[in-house]
Amino acid sequence: MIEARIQPTFDDWRTRARTLVAANIAPEEVIWTHDTDAPLLPGWRNCTSIDAAETSAPHNTAYVPPAFLSIAAQVAMHRDSSRWGLLYRILHRLSHGERHLLEISIDPDVHHLLAMAARVRRDLHKMHAFVRFRRVAREGVAHYIAFHRPDHLILPAAAPWFARRFAIMQWTIFTPDASATWNARTLNFGHGAGSSGIEDDGLEELWRTYYANIFNPARVKVRAMKKEMPVRHWATLPETGIIKQLLREAPGRVEQMMKATPNRKSPAPMPAADAAAFIPQSHSLKVLAEAIQKCRGCDLYCNATQAIFGEGPADAVTMLVGEQPGDNEDLAGRPFVGPAGQLLDACLDEAGIDRSLCYVTNAVKHFKFEQRGPRRIHAKPNAREISACRPWLRAETDRIEPWIIIALGATAAQSMMGPQFRVTKSHGQVFAGTPWGPGFVATIHPSALLRIPDPARREGAREMFVADLKIAAKQIERSAR
Ligand code: URA
Repeated sequence: MIEARIQPTFDDWRTRARTLVAANIAPEEVIWTHDTDAPLLPGWRNCTSIDAAETSAPHNTAYVPPAFLSIAAQVAMHRDSSRWGLLYRILHRLSHGERHLLEISIDPDVHHLLAMAARVRRDLHKMHAFVRFRRVAREGVAHYIAFHRPDHLILPAAAPWFARRFAIMQWTIFTPDASATWNARTLNFGHGAGSSGIEDDGLEELWRTYYANIFNPARVKVRAMKKEMPVRHWATLPETGIIKQLLREAPGRVEQMMKATPNRKSPAPMPAADAAAFIPQSHSLKVLAEAIQKCRGCDLYCNATQAIFGEGPADAVTMLVGEQPGDNEDLAGRPFVGPAGQLLDACLDEAGIDRSLCYVTNAVKHFKFEQRGPRRIHAKPNAREISACRPWLRAETDRIEPWIIIALGATAAQSMMGPQFRVTKSHGQVFAGTPWGPGFVATIHPSALLRIPDPARREGAREMFVADLKIAAKQIERSAR
């Protein structure tokens, strides 16, 4: 028998496995063991770049399909210590005449391998969804910390995603096994820790408000909810504290929603509670833009010409969110093309923000108006319409993953940050680590400027608007560094 003593990392296993295969050592002859005195999760490099783990092919002559290497890198993160033996058995079979082994999903080894890889991928997905940062001050600088309990050893693979997503923040994610710290430039790994000592800050309340806003009482499926948000993560999620209360209130809220739905000339007989049911699986902007034309999440589609979806590059760093399309936009099929859009363009220009690099959208996608003779007069969307449309905004932010969101006016700001958010109080302030992305700045709506009759007051408000946009521009600049 041969004892293959390795550091428990994919790289170390691969180096060792390569030598063993080249020497034609049968899997039954190898016992895989870990170094007992190895650091908890050894092999984690501190990196100045945030590239994914390397999975280049080994330099032996044995045939190894590239698909195996990427699956093996995932399985290496599984906590089960039998993974090294399984990986070696499969590698050996692949290089000894079973080239197409991975295509035989009923083979017990392959079945086991794919199931382990799927568990690791699911764990990564859950970590991306369930890490919640809290703000702490560290030597006078805002630092964000989070505690998460993954099932598997996924922190090195998960951390680069957070570094990209929350690049402008400085943060540490603790797991029981290890920690990852991002100083806005470099990712460093250290020892693990428990969750004690992580205290509530203002962000906890923001997460709760956000969750209460997106919670749809007409679509409560407790089992699906627990599957999507496994109960073991609840301890580290601020919003879970309000789930029981929301569930208790759900039947009454559905009744209220139904009573509150006014009778119109031609609405759908029973309007959907929100747009969620109309959102396709694919988050391609093209697919979303087509699907939104069929949205019946609220009644606004009845009178509008068309839904106005967002526009701009899919890799935009900046996302601008307005209230709802106006008369011009409704006819043109594009956001911010009318007078408010022209003023916005001029002010963006002054602030040094290139609109063509921004993704521009609205909190509500259909034009709401009152018909007065031949004129269609803008009407403010109500809370139900804003909330019904929020899943589209979420789908857009999920696809774009903007560094910085600029909310134009109270409708956009409150749709994203909750009804207690006040643009008058918080405009021009940078909010980091929000439920919508790493950076958020709210400011006034350009059409508010157009409505100010007094030239001096209008000019003052315009200066304030441009100053807020400049604050956002600084964040955009920082994200590019
Ligand atoms: N106002 C908005 O909020 N959005 C538009 O697209 C146009 C005007």
